Parts: sequence; structure tokens; C-alpha cells
Amino acid sequence: MSKVDVLLGLQWGDEGKGKVVDVLTPEYDVIARFQGGPNAGHTLEFNGIKHVLHIIPSGIFHEHKLNVIGNGVLIEPRIFRQEVEALKEKHVDATKNLYISKKAHLILPSHRMLDAANEKAKGNAKIGSTLKGIGPAYTDKIARSGLRVGDIMEFDFREKYELLKCQHIQTAHTLNFDLDTFRIDNMTLDEYEQLWLASLETLKEFRLINSEYFINRCLDEGKKVLAEGAQGSMLDIDFGSYPFVTSSSTITAGVCSGLGVAPSRIGRVMGISKAYCTRVGAGPFPTELFDETGRTLCELGHEYGATTGRSRRCGWIDIPALRYACMLNGVTDLFVTKPDVMNDFDEVKMCTAYEIDGRMTDEIPFEFNEVEIKPAYKSFPGWKQSLAGIDRYDALPRPLLDYLAALEKAVGVKVYAVSISPDRKDVLFR
Ligand code: GDP
Ligand code: IMO
Ligand code: MG
Repeated sequence: MSKVDVLLGLQWGDEGKGKVVDVLTPEYDVIARFQGGPNAGHTLEFNGIKHVLHIIPSGIFHEHKLNVIGNGVLIEPRIFRQEVEALKEKHVDATKNLYISKKAHLILPSHRMLDAANEKAKGNAKIGSTLKGIGPAYTDKIARSGLRVGDIMEFDFREKYELLKCQHIQTAHTLNFDLDTFRIDNMTLDEYEQLWLASLETLKEFRLINSEYFINRCLDEGKKVLAEGAQGSMLDIDFGSYPFVTSSSTITAGVCSGLGVAPSRIGRVMGISKAYCTRVGAGPFPTELFDETGRTLCELGHEYGATTGRSRRCGWIDIPALRYACMLNGVTDLFVTKPDVMNDFDEVKMCTAYEIDGRMTDEIPFEFNEVEIKPAYKSFPGWKQSLAGIDRYDALPRPLLDYLAALEKAVGVKVYAVSISPDRKDVLFR
């Protein structure tokens, strides 16, 4: 009997999860997404090809490995169809090795409208959502009025769909949302709905399963399963920088509810962190840099959202946040990405504690959004050399090895591997 290994982001998302899952896939039989939806953008690069996945797990390019979209994930059929078609253009037929939970909830076009309406109503307090309908669709799931993938096979699906859509339109009216000017991909709600409904046919081409039985059976048979997280721990609905979070459980606990596996069946937990830190959208970010260094991280790190194209806010690595994430997730192995972005830096900084109202702390305060946080930094000499061509962990420059050693000491978890370029081949395991 085997256990589910987990790979998830420890920061505010975009840590490089897609790349690392793709690299780890040969060691596994099944790759399963357990939460999130098209708000995610997971980038993979190999053989000079760059590919961004949103709903489909990052093991899809390995044709002999199975991929599962678990019950905890949200599916937007039109975006899903576009993803399937983009894969087809790269000669990947996802119908062969992707199974979908019947219990995964659907994002309706009107969920996307509500996402926009909610953000507009919040004004300056808006979350900076990806506007893919995540919040409203999870709201309906919890309110027990959502529609699930399995429902599309039922005779009364269209009736249920219309009912839910009507409720959404009423809500939009109460928010004084201007439906006439609202567009999704330059289309009116009605135009988009036609494409959305047609896209349900693509979903029907896939094996729709009770994925909890499937995953547990795989484990019983000794197969190796990797759970792929989306977003990051600091965007978790319970423990993230609420309300500037996403609407799902992005931590290890989410694997249990999002795939239907018991806590005792969780194995290794691999947590990913960039060697620095980024965030897209609004909300607290204590180590954010507004200077030239911040702009350099953004430019050299190509820190532009894989889903929305927005530029990501950049700053130094934040140890209090990382330690918190490691605690919440039970991280057993640390994966560090993108140190290569800082190759030319004279110095690299690490935030080791927060100063709040003149007092030092290394805990994330409840009032994370309200208080002024002054990060206390420890400075490290830069390595001032290219990492290109380095093929062993031990061969990394001494100042970088020292930085990584300080990092693992600060968070109390061993660094298991380092990624030094966007390409699949550039991961150095220890
Ligand atoms: P994810 O959402 O966690 O999968 O991450 P994203 O794909 O949104 O963002 C990570 C970005 O960094 C992508 O553009 C990757 O191609 C790139 N990337 C991943 N690992 C590395 C690395 O080690 N070095 C560099 N320079 N880029 C990387
Ligand atoms: P991956 O999987 C980075 C952010 C949004 C916004 C907040 C809520 O690629 O790491 P939502 O659309 O969920 O209502 O947005 O969360 N966000 C992400 N930021 N990476 C992601 O996913 C994200 N998914 C959502 O920018 O601030
Ligand atoms: Mg991303």
C-alpha cells in the first residue's frame, strides 16, 4: 500500500509548481489536482516549447502517466476545452490519460459575471481576483447549490443550469452591476454561454469517474500518486492573508478533502518556494520591494501572471511566512526555484522576522492586513555568476549554497532540490 505524495506552493503562488511536477512525473503513476481551477497557471518548458496549464494536471505531457482532476477542483468547461485543444496542437491527446471526478464543481459563465460584480462592488478593497469565477463557484458549492461535472449527464441539467443562472443574475442586479457592458473574452454573457454549453461536449469525451475510489484503489495496488497543488499556502482560505486569498484549501489538508484520501495516507510533502518572493493581486506582502531591485526581479524573473498577464509584485524571501507554511503543510522536503534570477545581485536578503509596533515577532499576525510590518533582514553576499550548465547541487556556487543552508536552518526543513532555469532539465537534486 502506498501513500500520496504532495507538491504544493509555500508562498503566494507561481513558485514553479508546474515545472517541478513535470520533472517529478516519471517517478509517479498518477498526478492529481486537488483544488483550485482556471485561476492557476502552471508553466512547463522542454525541447524549446513553453506550455501553460490551468485546470489540467502538469503530468499530462507524459503519455503513459494518468492524470486526475479531483473533486476539489473547479472546472470551467470553455477554458477546459481551450486547454484540451491547445494540447492537441502539440500532439497530446488528453482524452487518453486524463480522468475527471464527477464531483468536481462547474464554473458557470454567470459565476464569472458574479466574480466581476463582487470585485467591482468592493471598489478599492478588491482582491485582485483572476476573474475566472473561483469565489462564486466555491460559494455555491458550500451553499449546496452548485452544479457538478456528473450533472451534465442528467436529463434535467439544463433546467438546473437556468435556475442557478437566474439566481446569479438577480444577485448581480442587487449589486447594481451593469450586465449590458459586461464581457468575457470580448463576448456578452449570452454569446459566451453558447460556447460554454457547446464545450460540455468536450467534457463528455473524458472518463468521468468517482475519483476517490480510483485514487484509493491505486494506492492499494501500490501505485505512486502525486497530488499537485495550485496557488500557495499564503492564499489558503483559512490560513492565508484573508480576505486577500483564494477560496480553496491550498494546504496539505486540502489533499484529503480534494481527492478523498485519509490523512494517514499522506506521504512526503514537498513544498516549493522561490529563492525570493512574488505575489499577484492585492493584499499584504511585507517584503515587497518598490525599488530597482524589485523591478529587476520582475524583469529577469519574467514575473508576469501565467493566467492574467498582470505583472507580479516582487520582494525578498519571507521566512516567517515560509515557516508558517511549512508548519501548516507538514513539509518534509523543500524545493527552491529561480535563484538564477539573482545571479547578478551583489547581495541577497532574507527577512527573518517582522517588527510590528516596535516589537519583533516571527509569527504571522491575525491583523496581517491592517498592521504596518517592518521586515528585519539578514544579508548574504551574491554569487555573481551564471548557474547555466551546472548539473550537480554540490557544484552550485558557495555563496548560493550558504544561502540555501541558511534557508533550511531558518525553516527547519531540508532543501531537497533546486531549479535553476525554466527548463525541465535544470533541476538539481541533492
Ligand atoms: P506555478 O504556478 O507555480 O506553476 O508557476 P508559474 O508557471 O505561474 O510561474 C513560474 C515561472 O517561473 C514560469 O514562467 C516558469 O517557467 C519559471 N520558472 C520555473 N522554475 C524556474 C527556475 O528555476 N528559474 C527560472 N528562471 N524560471 C523558472
Ligand atoms: P498558481 O497555481 C498566483 C490570486 C489572485 C488574487 C487571489 C484570488 O498559478 O500558483 P481568485 O481568482 O482565486 O479569486 O484570486 O489569488 N491567485 C493566484 N496568484 N498564482 C495563482 O495560481 C493564483 N490563483 C489565484 O491573483 O490575488
Ligand atoms: Mg502560476
